[in-house]
Amino acid sequence: LSDRPLTGTKILITAGPTREAIDPVRYLSNHSSGKMGYALASAAKRLGAEVTIVSGPVALSTPAGCQCIAVQSALDMRKAVMSEVAKADIFIGCAAVADYRPAQQVEQKIKKSRDEMQLTLIKNPDILSEVAALPNRPFVVGFAAETQDLEHYARDKLSRKRLDMIAANDVSKQNIGFNSEQNALSVFWPSGETKLPECDKHSLALQLLDVIAEQYKEKQDA
Ligand code: C5P
Repeated sequence: LSDRPLTGTKILITAGPTREAIDPVRYLSNHSSGKMGYALASAAKRLGAEVTIVSGPVALSTPAGCQCIAVQSALDMRKAVMSEVAKADIFIGCAAVADYRPAQQVEQKIKKSRDEMQLTLIKNPDILSEVAALPNRPFVVGFAAETQDLEHYARDKLSRKRLDMIAANDVSKQNIGFNSEQNALSVFWPSGETKLPECDKHSLALQLLDVIAEQYKEKQDA
């Protein structure tokens, strides 16, 4: 087997959190560090791929040789992904896209006056599902963070979002996953699964890319 199994392959990866503006100075977001997505980008590059990251705001530098498109909100991320995806052979949705955004984006800073204030939120588009629904879709890989019944929820997401593969991590464990250096993944695809035991995100990314490369080739040859 080649040590650069992704040579000639174009990979598009979403990474990091999104920021959903409330007003010009405030936003809603989450604790995603982008580390897993950036580790995947760097691993994919090492395995020979041409890599583009669409990244929410993170404190990481772009891995050498990768292209990075910086975005803020889920709507920005969707726009960037949709303009890049036609070129991609493989799409990996690793971003922690905010599920909801403020219904109204006000132009001026909200003043504190009343003792209570209400914020109405509306659902953001599911970028991963939208990519999977494209007529000429790439090989689509999603992520799932679950706190219970990992396999059940991951397989449900795999079929509901019509993915080719899903990598699931158990976020009930304190030391791994979200915003940490370590992670462990259970990977599911329609006809199989594999477990990648706990290790640092860089080794894990290389192992996951190997699994992706194998299933991607298999699907192409089918
Ligand atoms: O449904 P859930 O949010 O658990 O799915 C997680 C997967 O879907 C991740 O791969 C994430 O990047 C992707 N996702 C997305 N757009 C959203 C929400 C999730 O691409 N709005």
